[in-house]
Amino acid sequence: MVVRTIPVDDFDLVIFGATGDLARRKILPGLYRRFLAGQMPPSARIIGAARSDNSDEEFRKETRAAIEEFAPKADKSELNAFLSQLHYVPIDAKGPGGWDSLKTLMRDSVVRAFYFSVAPSLFGDLAQRLSEYGIADKNSRIVVEKPFGRDLASARALNATLAEHFAEGQIYRIDHYLGKETVQNLMAVRFANILFEPLWNAQYVDHVQITVSETVGVGGRGGYYDQSGAMRDMVQNHLMQLLCLTAMEPPYHFDPDAVRDEKLKVIRALEPVSPSEIVRGQYQADGEEPGYLEDAENPDSRTESFVALKVRISNWRWQNTPFYLRTGKKMRSRTSEIVVSFKEPPHSIFDESSQRRPNQLVIKLQPDEGMVMTVMIKEPGPGGMRLMQVPLDMSFADTFGPDGADMPDAYERLVMDVIRGNQTLFMRGDEVEAAWAWADPIIEAWDSAKTLPEPYDAGSSGPEEALGLMHRDNRRWREIRA
Ligand code: BG6
Repeated sequence: MVVRTIPVDDFDLVIFGATGDLARRKILPGLYRRFLAGQMPPSARIIGAARSDNSDEEFRKETRAAIEEFAPKADKSELNAFLSQLHYVPIDAKGPGGWDSLKTLMRDSVVRAFYFSVAPSLFGDLAQRLSEYGIADKNSRIVVEKPFGRDLASARALNATLAEHFAEGQIYRIDHYLGKETVQNLMAVRFANILFEPLWNAQYVDHVQITVSETVGVGGRGGYYDQSGAMRDMVQNHLMQLLCLTAMEPPYHFDPDAVRDEKLKVIRALEPVSPSEIVRGQYQADGEEPGYLEDAENPDSRTESFVALKVRISNWRWQNTPFYLRTGKKMRSRTSEIVVSFKEPPHSIFDESSQRRPNQLVIKLQPDEGMVMTVMIKEPGPGGMRLMQVPLDMSFADTFGPDGADMPDAYERLVMDVIRGNQTLFMRGDEVEAAWAWADPIIEAWDSAKTLPEPYDAGSSGPEEALGLMHRDNRRWREIRA
C-alpha cells in the first residue's frame, strides 16, 4: 500500500538548537523523509540556529552525517537537493547576536515556524526576541519540547511567559507520543467503528492497563533524569496522553479544541492517587552492568526509574473501572501497549472446568504496531466442549505491506502538522497544567516521605510490588515478553 501525502504550504522553519541531539536524531532526519515523500515544497527552507559559529555549508555537512546515521534506510539519492534547502544562522538566545541576520533571511507570505529544541530555560528568551525583533508575526507558530515545566507552578509560569508574545493558537507543545501512528489509530478504532464504543465503559470493561517499558537505562542523560524520574519524564505526559485518548468521550468533531476539551475533562476527573496504590522502583546493578545509581552518578538518589500506579477516573463512564499504568527503564523488552480488559460474560453455559478468559483488546504502540483481540473459541477436535483463547491479530506490517509498515516517525507527522496549522496532536496549556495539578501531590508526598524506591533487576518487569498492585485486585498485568 502506498501512503498518500499531501504537500504542505511553503514555509521557513527555524530550528533553534539545530546542532543538538533531538535535531540530529529526529527533526532533521524526519524532515528528510518528508522531503522524500514529496511533502516538502522545493522552495521551503529549514534554517538551523544555534550558538556555534557555523556556515550554511558546515550545517549541511553535519545534517548529512545526522541523516546517514539516523535515517540509514532512507534513499540518499536526493540528499543534495534536500540539503540545498538548509541554511544556518549563529544566534545568541540571551543576547542581540544573530537576530538581525535571521530577520533578513525570513521570507514574507510563507508559513513561519520556530522550533524551540533547546533547554526550557531558554523558551522565554527565544519567544521574547522573536517578537521584539519582529521576526514572528501573528501567523507564526512556535514549537516547544517537553519537559513543559517540572510542576504546576513552573508550567503556569512558562505558559504565562509564552502568552506574553504568542496566542495559544500559535503554541505547539509537543508530546511525541501523540504523533505515533497507533496512538492516532486508537481514536480511529474507537470513533470510526460501531463495534467497540458500546462496550467501552465500566459496564463491560473490567480494567485498562497501559504499559510503556523500555530496555534503555538513563546512562548518558542521568543528570537530567535524576531531577525528573519516571513520573515527570513519562507519566505526567506520555502515559497521561494515552490514558486520555483511551478514556475520553467522543469529541463532536476531530478538531483541535474539541479533542483537547475532552482530554482535559478526563484529567480533571482523575482522583488523587493513594500512596498505597503506587509503586516506585529503581534498577539495580547487575554484574558488569551499572545500576541506576551509577548511571545517574548519584549514589544517594531516591529518583524512580520505574513507576506503577492505579488510577481512578471519577466520571459516569469509568466508575469502578481502574486504569493501571506502569513505565520503567531497563526492563525486559521495549513494549508499549494499551490493554482493554473486558468483563466475563454474565453467565457461563459451559462447565466450570472449561477454561474461560476475559476478552482483551491489546493496542500495540511499539514495536510491531497493531492490534490483537483475544477471543474464546472451541478447542478443535472431538472429546467434548473445551474452550481455548486465540488472538485475532492485526499487525500493521502484515496488513499494509512493507510500505505501510514503514510508518512515519512521530516527529515527521508532528512537524508537518505545525506547518499545516493543525494543533489536534499538541497539548494545550490548560491540559498540561491540569496534568501537573494531578501529578504534583504524588511527587510531593514522595519528597516528604523520603522513602527509597523498590529495587528491581535489569531485564525484569519491574519490582515485585508492582505485580502485587494488580494481584491484590485479582488481576494481572499482561506479561512483558522478551
Ligand atoms: C522521552 C523521555 O520523552 O520519551 C525518554 O524523555 C524516553 O526518557 C522516551 O526514553 C521514549 O520515547 P519512545 O518514542 O522511544 O517510546
